[in-house]
Formats: sequence, C-alpha cells, structure tokens
Amino acid sequence: MKNLDELKSEIEEAIHGAADLNALEDIRISELGKKGRVSGLMKSLGKMDPEERKTAGQQFNELKQAVAALIKTRKIDLENADLDASLAEEKIDITLPARPDTQGSIHPISQTMDEVVAIFGEMGFTVAEGPDIEEDWYNFTALNIPVDHPARQEHDTFYVNAEKDGQRMVLRTHTSPVQIRTMQSQKPPIRIIVPGRTYRCDHDATHSPMFHQVEGLVVDETTHMGHLKGCLIEFCRAFFRDDDLPVRFRPSYFPFTEPSAEVDIGCSFEDGSLKIGHGDDWLEILGSGMVNPAVLENCGIDSTKYQGFAFGMGIERIAMLKYGIPDLRTFYDSDLRWLRHYGFRSLDVPSMVGRASL
Ligand code: PHE
Repeated sequence: MKNLDELKSEIEEAIHGAADLNALEDIRISELGKKGRVSGLMKSLGKMDPEERKTAGQQFNELKQAVAALIKTRKIDLENADLDASLAEEKIDITLPARPDTQGSIHPISQTMDEVVAIFGEMGFTVAEGPDIEEDWYNFTALNIPVDHPARQEHDTFYVNAEKDGQRMVLRTHTSPVQIRTMQSQKPPIRIIVPGRTYRCDHDATHSPMFHQVEGLVVDETTHMGHLKGCLIEFCRAFFRDDDLPVRFRPSYFPFTEPSAEVDIGCSFEDGSLKIGHGDDWLEILGSGMVNPAVLENCGIDSTKYQGFAFGMGIERIAMLKYGIPDLRTFYDSDLRWLRHYGFRSLDVPSMVGRASL
C-alpha cells in the first residue's frame, strides 16, 4: 500500500492544480466517490484484523477529512475566482459617453409664435383666440368687407357647407375676425394679440392653404398712429434682434383700417443671398392701420370716443426671413431631418427685459 503521506500530498497537489470547478469535482469523485481511492481504503478496513483496523481506521479517516477539507477550500477559491472574472468582465465602463437623449424639438412655427407672443407680452398685450371655422360676418362683413367687395375674391376663401343662422361658414382667411369678437366681448382699453391658423385656397413655394398669422389690436381713448409706429418698430427690432433695423411705413389699403400702412424692413441682396438689416432694399413683413371707425361701430364701440390700431403678419414669412428657410412648403412636410436642422430646443424664447413697453 502506498504510504499515506505520499498519497495525501499527491491528492493535495492535484487539488491545487485543479483549474476549474469541473476538474475539482472529478478529483472529488476519483478520491471520495463510491469507487474513489480514499473510499477504497475505508472499504479495506473490513478485511483487517481489529488491532490494525484501529490505527488504520483513524489514519484513513484523517486522510478522508483532510481531503474533504482541501476540496472545500479549493472550491471556495475557484468560486471566488469565477466571480472575480465575471465581475471584471461585466464591469460598467463609466468612461463611455452616455447615449444621446432623443428629445423632440420645437417646430420653427411654434418657436416664432412664442417669440412674437413674448415680445408683445412684454409690451402688455394679452393673447386672444377665436374659431378656425368662422361666420362670414366676422371674417368679412363686420370688418367692412361687404358682399361683392373685391377683397373677398382676393382672399381665396374656403367655404364650408354648414350654415349658422343663415350665415355662410368659412375657414377664416385671416386672424382679423378675432378683432371683432374681442371688441364685442370686452370694453376698451383693449390690447390683444391673436396667434392662430388661417386658410386660403393657394399653394406654391410661398403660399400654403393653411398658414399662421398673428393679429394685434389696441383700442383706447388716446390711441394714435404714433403708438402704432412705435409699437411695430419696437417689435421688428426685437424680433430680428437688430436695434438699428430700418423700418418703413408705406401707405396701403385694407377695408378695416384707415389709414392703412404696410410695414417694410431694410435688407440687401448680396450675391443672391438675403441679408436683413442695412441695405438699399425693403421687404414687406406686415399689414397695419388705424381701426376704421366703421369697424368700431359694427362692434358697438363709440368711434367718437375711441380709436385703435391693428396689425397682422404671416408667421411663416417672418420665420423664413429670420431663420433662412427657403421654401414655405417644408414647414408641413414633417421631415425629421428638416426638423432636426431647423427645430429649436425648449426654453429658447428671447428675453425682452430692458425694452421699453408701450
Ligand atoms: N388681415 C390682414 C391680412 O390678412 C392683415 C391686417 C391685419 C392688416 C390688421 C391691417 C390690420 O392681410
């Protein structure tokens, strides 16, 4: 029989040399398993005489326990090594840049409306709204555009089949009907702006059947043309962020204002590209005028006591000019690449702090 000490060191060496848990289990089976070497020694005790069995039994038992203990320790070591290996492998690399957060962006139309509202908000205007499907009377008649007036044809109106109290319904062709609704429901002083959708049967690179306007209306006892000019010059300079932007008032005609003026801003066309600001050219950006006394009277406001001014502008147009967007139709294509390029992050509304208020 092999010297027990030799056997023990042989097994010990094998246990230490076990590369992984499987190898260790193989050793356990071949030593301590039913047919294992150490188990075989235990079995041989039966054939010994009692004296011999007593000493050998003790030695075999010690060997068995020593081998079991060695296996247990080695098992813990191997398990720890396994754990360390998988921890090292699964470690989160915090030096990796985070994945970009896919946030939506604000459409240039919404952004521009917010900017316009912010600028007039600082001047003391409040926002008013009205319906998109409008009665003919609010859209035309009350605004001094009677039936058969040529301005009705110019508006390329969409008519809706529905009628209300014998009134033809239209998709509003401008935000001006909200002037009427406000003057009917509020007493002067009035100072409102009306951002909203408008509709005309027109479609090309600079016209869309649905577009946006912002209307403005001020009515008070002492309101005069100087207020109109000051307010709109201030607006243009704040919106285009140019304190010296040239602004020109050009006589015009609208049935609901008298006198009427179109407002132009200075610009230049250098090498075919448009530059807002100084230069010898002009760009029309909005319509305005003193509220026609007939309109005040249509709303039950005493035109001998009150005067007002009104203005209206196309949002797409001023957005295209400010942000260099060449084709109006792209506003409604819902092209994500376009939106990513021209869109805005939230909270980008410019501050008007420090500007004079009306
Ligand atoms: N409603 C006019 C338009 O759509 C603009 C305008 C509004 C002009 C108010 C004068 C006063 O063209």
